[in-house]
Amino acid sequence: MGYRHIEVTPNDTGFGAGITGLDLSTPLPPETLGEVKRAWAEHGVVWFPRQPLNLEQLETFTQAIGPFGHDPFIKPMKEHPHVLELRREPDEKATNFGAGWHSDWSFQETPPAATILHAEIVPPVGGDTLYADCARAWDALSGTMKELLSGLNAIHSAVLPYSKKGVYAQEKEKRTMEIITSDEAEKTQAHPLVRTHPVTGRKALYVSPVYTIGIEGMSGEESQWLLGGLYKHMTKPDFVYRHTWQKDMLTMWDNRCTLHFADGGYDGHLRVMHRTTVAGEKPV
Ligand code: SIN
Repeated sequence: MGYRHIEVTPNDTGFGAGITGLDLSTPLPPETLGEVKRAWAEHGVVWFPRQPLNLEQLETFTQAIGPFGHDPFIKPMKEHPHVLELRREPDEKATNFGAGWHSDWSFQETPPAATILHAEIVPPVGGDTLYADCARAWDALSGTMKELLSGLNAIHSAVLPYSKKGVYAQEKEKRTMEIITSDEAEKTQAHPLVRTHPVTGRKALYVSPVYTIGIEGMSGEESQWLLGGLYKHMTKPDFVYRHTWQKDMLTMWDNRCTLHFADGGYDGHLRVMHRTTVAGEKPV
């Protein structure tokens, strides 16, 4: 089915698409919004160039997609409890935020469907975001492997990055973003290792090295064998799209069928992004 109200330019693979012909600073008519949501479900990652939005406009667009998600462990922007500022100063040495493959907040019972990122200040080099297509990664598996994985539950937790003993708690270098480490991060949540997208009906692998800590019914060692192999498969160049930012670009990705990785490579330069999430459903 084509689009009547927006222009959609997909990547050759079909994973990721640019959307033009819109001004996101004012509310979109229902038919247009419906097409934006359809393109997002179809392509996994969609971006809208040249959208100079203030924080209120970013919040309004987010809520048009759906209710805000809950963002734990990071102090939000003053007077904007649903907006995170991903800011890295030129002199920061700490690893850039998001530098590991993950699907946002997958340790929650109902993880966010969408994450929306708006580029305020883009460094002259680096700062790309990589996206992995977890639906195509699933499609590419053999029938035997699909059979083995179907019905398994993976265990997700924020323990590795956000617990009191986690990566951020042990960090020595200064970081501008305020990360709130907590014992809450040790909680675990099981989700199907293969989830079905509520709109497209496509299956996708739903595990990540940042938030998946094991597989139900398997030993730690067995889990790591299987998960390690899956991560290698899911992040093969075939399934990965490298997204290069421009100032004022808004990008929205679907956490139900993608992983992402903030690539860094801009030491000595400022990068500032504003991020919101849209609530999702329990993975099935
Ligand atoms: C993230 O949300 O994980 C960060 C993405 C980015 O800054 O490119």
